[in-house]
Order: sequence, then structure tokens, then C-alpha cells
Amino acid sequence: MTLRSAFDGRLQLGCAVAGTLPGSLSATEERLLSEQFNVLTPENCMKSGLIHPEPERYDFEAPDALLAFAERQGLSVVGHCLAWHNQAPAWLFEPGMTRALALTQLARHIQAVAGRYRGRIQGWDVVNEAIADDGDGLRDTPALRAIGEDYIERAFELAREADPHAELYYNDYNIEQPAKRERTLRMLERLQASGVRLDGVGIQGHWIIDRVPFDDIAAAIQQYRALGLKVMITELDIDVVDRPDCSADIATQRAYSPTEDRYREGCPAPVMTHVLQQQAEQYARLFEIFTRQPGDVARVTFWGLHDGGSWLNSWPGKRTNHPLLFDRQCLPKPAYEAVLDVARRTQVKS
Ligand code: G3I
Repeated sequence: MTLRSAFDGRLQLGCAVAGTLPGSLSATEERLLSEQFNVLTPENCMKSGLIHPEPERYDFEAPDALLAFAERQGLSVVGHCLAWHNQAPAWLFEPGMTRALALTQLARHIQAVAGRYRGRIQGWDVVNEAIADDGDGLRDTPALRAIGEDYIERAFELAREADPHAELYYNDYNIEQPAKRERTLRMLERLQASGVRLDGVGIQGHWIIDRVPFDDIAAAIQQYRALGLKVMITELDIDVVDRPDCSADIATQRAYSPTEDRYREGCPAPVMTHVLQQQAEQYARLFEIFTRQPGDVARVTFWGLHDGGSWLNSWPGKRTNHPLLFDRQCLPKPAYEAVLDVARRTQVKS
């Protein structure tokens, strides 16, 4: 049994991939990806700063390779992401630019990128992290300043024109937490009222061991479903080295002392075993929530294949992390077995 077969017909199982250019994945990693998952998300290479670094210059090499790899392996691809303030090129929305020019630049970007992969992408994260962490409104970004609040609607309209076959998603972190969830629900309702195509919402899911907000997650899934949207967990990991909160804002940086970086090499085995067991139980509780009612969650994507490749080894500071289902040797961890166990138990019930 593998993850994808265990949840077949109930949930899509996804994985973020940092690179598929020849030589970037080992044979073991390739095998694990195609055996365990049925949908891939490019971790970085489709972000605007990488795929469209200058107005007339595109870098399609890595995304083309990812699409080719996925198609060879029979996997689907989620595009990530068309409008985001991070890893974005300065030329796209410059200070002082007119609204008209900013809209033209947004159109040029979305038409080129979503248009190139038209018909080959399952769905696009069209707008990423647009809601402010605090306060009452949208995040202050170059797109908001140059275009205004309707940059979100425009991005969805442009994505639909560029690839009418792709589903279109809003994606963000901490949107299971009550205050940010309320603001997100209001923004999604406004989007729906504007008549744009919106198929689903991605709850990123960058959670921290012993602080996973299970009740908020369950409530958020129901509230987003009540809007008639598909709900996806799009960037799942469980951090085992503490960090201040579940935000995933890369602007926040801090240094980890050797004491804080406590699961680096040399960590005593019993402690590590205990932590990985706790992590397994918490992953299991999450999958119990995700599978509670058929159709509640359409896809769960892990943000990385194995612990060695996780972004949580370098953010918010350099440390040794163990957040995923496979260890640095690509071997299954207790969390993997625990998630499979949920699949078995919930299958018997249904
Ligand atoms: O490519 C350069 C490389 O040339 C250089 O040597 C190296 C030195 O630091 O940096 C490399 O770029 C890094 C890039 O990842 C590729 O590895 C950037 O510094 C680093 O900031 C970047 O981090 C990515 C982050 O998004 C940037 O915003 C993470 O890999 C990626 O996992 C993360 O993903 C985001 C989602 O897209 C949206 N949700 C939050 C999530 C976590 O921040």
C-alpha cells in the first residue's frame, strides 16, 4: 500500500518538488514521487521572479522539465503561483507605475505563463497570501499599491482566459485561524459575488508539533466548503523544532542557537523516537479530520518529499528539521505508517 493507493478515490495526494531538471532527483526520489503521490506542485520554479525575471525574458526550462517528468510518470501538476508578493520581479509592479500599466503587466505575465501550459495544469494557485496577517484588510503588496484591491479579481479573470481548463484557487497560510479565516471568508465571498471563476481554497498547513490547531482546521474546512468551494491542504508539514508561530512569511528570520537546534545530528535516539511518535500521532489526527466526511478535502499536498529537502531546514533560520513523512534516506517515518493506518481504518468504516 502507498499513500496514493491508500486514499484512492477519496483524496489526491500531492508533493512539492524543488526541481526535476536532469540530475536533480535521485532514482529513489523519482520512484518515491511516482509511487506515493498523484499530483506535483513546483516548489519554486513557476513563481514570477523565476519564470519571468525580466519583461521580455522567461525561464521555462525548469517548469517544462517538471511538466515533462509529471506527464511521463502519469502525475498531475498544480501551478504555483501566478500572483504573489514574494519571489516576484521588481519590474512587474514598480512604485509610481500607473494602474493601466500595472494591469497590462499582470496580463502579460499570466497570459504567458498560464497560456504556455494551457490544458496541462490541473489547477492554478492564482493568488497566494493576499490577506494581511493582522488588521482588517489585504496584505500591503506592490500589486495592491499599483492596481488596487481588484488585482485579485483581475488575476482570476486573466487565469481563466489563459487556461479555461484549469481549476483556479486562492491559497494562503493561517487561514484556519479564526480572525484570518473570517477575513478570508469575506474576501472569497466578494470574489464569488464578482462573478469570477473560483474553484477552491488552499489552506497551506505549515503547522508546528504540539500546536496543531485541530479544532480550527476542522471548523475552517466546513466553512470554506459551505461556500461551495473545494478545500485543499496545499503545503503540509509539521515542524518539530519550535518557531514563534505558524506563519510562513519568509520576511521573518531568526538565528537558532545549537541548543535550540536540538534535533541536529547527534540527538539522542530515545528523544528523537519520542518526537517522531508524537508527530505521527498528530499527522494521524489531521488525516482523520481530512477524511471525516467524503469530499471534505479534495487534495493534501506535502511541502517537500523528505526531511532533507524541506524548506524548514533554512527558515526562519538554519536548523535541522524533520517535518515530513520520509526521512533523509527517503525511508518512511512513523508518521507515514500512522497516515496509512488512518486510510485503512477509515476505509473499513465507509
Ligand atoms: O536559488 C537560490 C540559490 O541560487 C542560492 O544559492 C540560495 C542561497 O540562499 O538561494 C536560492 O534561492 C532560495 C530558493 O528558495 C530556492 O531554494 C531562496 O533563497 C529561498 O528564499 C527560497 O525559499 C522558498 C520560499 O518559498 C521563498 O518564498 C522555499 O524554497 C519555498 O519552499 C517557499 O515556499 C512558500 C510557498 O511558495 C508559499 N507558501 C509559503 C512557502 C514557504 O515560505
